[in-house]
Amino acid sequence: MRKKFICGNWKMYKTTASALEFAEDFKKIYKPKEGIEVAIGAPFTQLKALKEAFKGTEVAISSQNIHWEDEGAFTGEISAPMLKEIGVDYAIIGHSERRQYFGETDETVCKRALKALEYGILPIICVGEKLEERDAGTHFDLVRRQCEYFLDRMTKEQAACITIAYEPIWAIGTGRTASPEQAEEMCAFIRGMAREIHGHELADKLIIQYGGSVKPANAHELLTQPDIDGALVGGASLKPDDFLAIINY
Ligand code: 13P
Repeated sequence: MRKKFICGNWKMYKTTASALEFAEDFKKIYKPKEGIEVAIGAPFTQLKALKEAFKGTEVAISSQNIHWEDEGAFTGEISAPMLKEIGVDYAIIGHSERRQYFGETDETVCKRALKALEYGILPIICVGEKLEERDAGTHFDLVRRQCEYFLDRMTKEQAACITIAYEPIWAIGTGRTASPEQAEEMCAFIRGMAREIHGHELADKLIIQYGGSVKPANAHELLTQPDIDGALVGGASLKPDDFLAIINY
């Protein structure tokens, strides 16, 4: 049985003060459950405070980016040693907002993921198609290209440490969720690809999340699909009650 993995992505929301308020409220209501991993992907300035606030709980902390060099003249970026120093557990990599607005490519996504792995920070690698690609029927080709790029460049041991998040861009922040069948179809397709490249054992263990307008009302139908092992949750992860309701799907 694969574990379920629910990760919040706070994007560019909250200050450290409001992040700590969330942590206090969430700790009062959250009870860890066997087989369900929970993480929060927060802006850089909140990571250290959240790591301390969630000490002794089973809530993991994720960054929303990580650079591929250990250090250097890369203004505005953050390195793996910097994140490791404060105990960050995961790094969200290649989110469609980074691909769309900040020039992230399959190559940079892969380089970032390999560096995170080198430091024992677990990559959550995002893939997913635009509406035009879905309408044109090229969504499987696109997701294949995105996943193959990094799966081909990882050893089986490295691939065993990643999470893949399938986030169709047309479903992000739009309230238009992919149907459970559409989400399942693509997550199963991704697992099939991982099986072709790294074999059954890896594919059966690989955690594949769905993301895009996940909320308490649709979490159950999405998270009970056989190939959907969790969710990457944007808007609904900003409120403790909503985030918890998704975890308790
Ligand atoms: P929403 O849940 O707000 O649609 O965002 C999804 C997302 O981008 C998570 O990474």
